[in-house]
Amino acid sequence: MCGIVGYVGPVNGGRDAKTVIIDGLRRLEYRGYDSAGVAVVADGAIELRKKAGKVADLEAEIAARPLDPSNLGIGHTRWATHGGPTDANAHPHVVGKLAVVHNGIIENFAHLKAELAEKGYAFKSDTDTEVAGALLLDTYTSLEGTADSGDLTRAMQLTAQRLEGAFTLLAVHADHPDRIVAARWNSPLVIGTGEGENFLSSDVSGFIEFTRDAVELDNGQVVTVTADGYEVTTFDGEAAEGKPFRVEWDITAAEKGGFNSFMEKEIFDQPAAVRDTLYGRFDEHGALTLDELRIDASVLRSVNKIIIVACGTAAYAGQVARYAIEHWCRIPTEVELAHEFRYRDPIVTEQTLVVAVSQSGETMDTLMAVRHAREQGAKVIAICNTVGASIPREADAVLYTYAGPEIAVASTKAFISQIVAAYLLALYLAQVRGNKYADEIRAIIDELQEMPDKIQQLLDNAAQIQQLGRDLSGSKSVLFLGRHVGFPVALEGALKLKEVAYLHSEGFAAGELKHGPIALVEDGQPVFVIVPSKRSRHNLHAKVVSNIQEVRARGAVTVVIAEEGDHDVEAYANHIIRIPESAGLMQPLLSTVPLQLFACSVAEARGLNVDQPRNLAKSVTVE
Ligand code: M6R
Repeated sequence: MCGIVGYVGPVNGGRDAKTVIIDGLRRLEYRGYDSAGVAVVADGAIELRKKAGKVADLEAEIAARPLDPSNLGIGHTRWATHGGPTDANAHPHVVGKLAVVHNGIIENFAHLKAELAEKGYAFKSDTDTEVAGALLLDTYTSLEGTADSGDLTRAMQLTAQRLEGAFTLLAVHADHPDRIVAARWNSPLVIGTGEGENFLSSDVSGFIEFTRDAVELDNGQVVTVTADGYEVTTFDGEAAEGKPFRVEWDITAAEKGGFNSFMEKEIFDQPAAVRDTLYGRFDEHGALTLDELRIDASVLRSVNKIIIVACGTAAYAGQVARYAIEHWCRIPTEVELAHEFRYRDPIVTEQTLVVAVSQSGETMDTLMAVRHAREQGAKVIAICNTVGASIPREADAVLYTYAGPEIAVASTKAFISQIVAAYLLALYLAQVRGNKYADEIRAIIDELQEMPDKIQQLLDNAAQIQQLGRDLSGSKSVLFLGRHVGFPVALEGALKLKEVAYLHSEGFAAGELKHGPIALVEDGQPVFVIVPSKRSRHNLHAKVVSNIQEVRARGAVTVVIAEEGDHDVEAYANHIIRIPESAGLMQPLLSTVPLQLFACSVAEARGLNVDQPRNLAKSVTVE
């Protein structure tokens, strides 16, 4: 949570730092949007503007009180942890001649604050960040008269050694108008490298407009960035290195492209997201070639249990994947919310394969679950959409989804791509363990390859669902029912609606209805029902049709998501949304799409900010 940007360019003739930083903050705003700020170094002094509210409010503040042109600055967009979203608590925090921005939570801040207060430091905000800034200033001052006098990098290394918790900390100093110094611990930070200018950001979208060349940093590193280069060390001051990489997407992927919201655009990106996630992962005979997995086949053959750890939408993708893994590979599979995983003392051995699913790759709960699993001796495979993020870095292997940047807080194309990647993993396991013959694997891959066109067919019919969203936008609550893989899809449909439309919604296993939830159904209650394929899930289909009848008989307004040609549902449906025919396990890739479109259009009809729902942030980097 929180987005951070830093820019350092040539002293003469370069870009103006504030313009670069504001651009970056706009792109990072999905990470947190309750306050924003910029500090630049101009004429040997720090100039600061910060404001509660969105980046647009900060821009208005800068328009009213302009900042001097500068080659150096840092900026921040906040998701509040310590201290409410006020002007005073907004970052940057200026302490003496220093300005700092921070992402994360400093757990020992109370102790440090007391120590610094005793030395005479006074604090203007309630934040842990200002304490970190004061500690940095105190450390910097303590170096005076030593060989390290005036060395901001050394001061940052020593400060980082004293901070506990999670932090990415960026600092500029009025006496050093040529550099930004940063430290990273359990919180993301990448360098963007340009020609005679360099950038720092929470993720590459903060500088993608200016460069696609980036450098990953490791946990426990400090970096000093100037216009001409960067130098990486450990917290102990040992020389270290970052890992350069090239960003595979460009700025157009991070723009709305004519859609009303990023969420809507990202829903429409899904055919490409599936195609790109499949691309290059198998040969012409259908043999999977997941070279990037880097885990020996003998280890995969010895696996006797899989635990999928994830949060939110990613966990629902894991729930869908479980059905496929157990069916195709015959390996017992559990799905666990990452934040519950390690606290229940799970049975994890060297034969356990843990699969961590995360769009951002920075979700702290999932990262902690990865660490716990590895400590227990398990191998961990990450399914992730963000190259070089913490979770894939710490896992034994990674299978990237290629959904492109997901900007809207509500996850859509990442969900669909996570299912595809998890299916590829399942098929790979089936291949190396000999659970399936090559032609069986080929047949499933053929089905997967048909999905982009089928999703596109659904999107071509978006207007029907969007109209339904407008019609039902006044509802007090909406229920979602599904069986088998339709169950996690129902949960995902309900989460989307809660998240972007602030509308009470619940997803249930349709079989559970008669055990309690049916009491909720009264006249006019909208109930979405995801109907499995009649061809491939005949028994299940009949049961779900009965469930539709049961709620309809009690006054529900039924919205039935059913395959083309499924006439059995017609008598009991107030609304039918048709999806193309598919194999049972492929259906979530289709049935989720109308639910995403529905939530998006309900939120729009209610006049809400679809991309930045209240109280949320895109990547949850606190536990
Ligand atoms: O980045 P991650 O996939 O690890 O994020 C996990 C959840 O926080 C995320 O899926 C969240 O539930 C979404 N906002 C749902 O749309």
